[in-house]
Amino acid sequence: MTNQTATNWIEQDKKQLHPIYHPKSHANPLVIERGEGVWLYTTDGQKILDGMAGLWNVNAGYGREELAKAAYDQMKELAFTSNFAGMTNLPSIKLADKLAGFAYEGLNTTFFTSGGSESNDSAFKTARYYWKRKGKPTKYKVIARRGSYHGVTLAATFATGLEKYHTMFGPAVDGFVHVAAPNPYRFDGELKPGETVGQAAARAVEEAILREGADTVAAFIAEPVMGVGGVIVPPEDYFPLVREICNRHEVLFIADEVITGFGRTGEWFALKHWGVKPDILSFAKAITSGYAQLGGIQISDEIRETMESAAESEAYMHGYTYSGHAMACAVGLRNLALMEADNYPSRAKELGRRLLDGLKTLTEFPFVGDVRGIGLLCGVEIVSNKETKSPDPAMAMRIFKTAQERGLRSRPVGNTLAFSPPLAIHEEEVDEIVKRLGAAMDGVV
Ligand SMILES: Cc1ncc(COP(=O)(O)O)c(C=O)c1O
Repeated sequence: MTNQTATNWIEQDKKQLHPIYHPKSHANPLVIERGEGVWLYTTDGQKILDGMAGLWNVNAGYGREELAKAAYDQMKELAFTSNFAGMTNLPSIKLADKLAGFAYEGLNTTFFTSGGSESNDSAFKTARYYWKRKGKPTKYKVIARRGSYHGVTLAATFATGLEKYHTMFGPAVDGFVHVAAPNPYRFDGELKPGETVGQAAARAVEEAILREGADTVAAFIAEPVMGVGGVIVPPEDYFPLVREICNRHEVLFIADEVITGFGRTGEWFALKHWGVKPDILSFAKAITSGYAQLGGIQISDEIRETMESAAESEAYMHGYTYSGHAMACAVGLRNLALMEADNYPSRAKELGRRLLDGLKTLTEFPFVGDVRGIGLLCGVEIVSNKETKSPDPAMAMRIFKTAQERGLRSRPVGNTLAFSPPLAIHEEEVDEIVKRLGAAMDGVV
């Protein structure tokens, strides 16, 4: 414990503007000092089970010496150098080589960023670049889904399908069109007689492409499992149908696997569940388990090819100072090695089943409308009436706060409580999540 009191830290913290800020939401922040495994320790002596792995990203858990050592060793050797064309460094070479074909066959080229929002901006720019190189410069629009979250750069903000992220930042960036998401519990699109939710949501994508004009649409973007939008697991038929639609209308498929990548759902990458392959893959977060700021996109061989034959005036003028950061890439490499050694996707599958089964026992509470999940990514949707399914975000917030007082961290996303613990979690810690959440629910009835 440090010699300052928690109250002093909170006072001093007022010099910082926090992400996703409102004074009410930061009135009494937890001051985290240390983490170990799935546990966080605050300066005022609380011990909290982090059921969210930070922000869905600390897959390897806290306090991993191997990752600290990878950062230290690389920083001593070379922390950073420019990675702009004309220069490269060994960790970025090795990590891009490791990632070639790792997520999906035919995605063999990686462009590095520092996080998920940058990855999605890079994906949009790369889609535009591709169509210009193919002689179709009018293709620039992006079809996204209502409820999606793609980050907070200006483009990613307006790709995001959650209004509250737009309210104070308009006018909207041109070219983002939103359609219904394949939400089996509460579908907000048009369902024709005999249609499944997957078919109806896929049809919404095709109708949007036709409405906008396929000659204006560059790409479709989707999180395979929506996170911030409420942990929405799509029905089986949705993504195969959407892939066909994209092919039919020459629209690139961007998979935003910023949350679902690197084992979270029980596969290394989540579109694998439905046998579908994207043209561009956005990743970030768990590539380093949050130990360093790293993200990127992977592009298909066909997209890469258009860059190789470009005129000098058509150079890919896109890149960040920290693209291919040597230390971050070294941490990514080490993190991948340890996730492979412990077979994290199969851990997520097995322990995810245990978590989901446990959470399902809570449906006996009158306000638990739905419990869903895939791998170690689960959501508990809170409603005021199970018949009408009326969302109850206020009750979700009460349960969240009560659970936190009992040493369990979840995340209220709308009226759903999200769970996405470290994949390094153990069985008894999974059971502890269910136990503490159940006790919190008992505490609010
Ligand atoms: C699906 C998805 N895409 C993109 C992002 C943005 O990533 P970052 O916050 O690293 O910019 C997030 C962040 O939670 C996300 O969940």
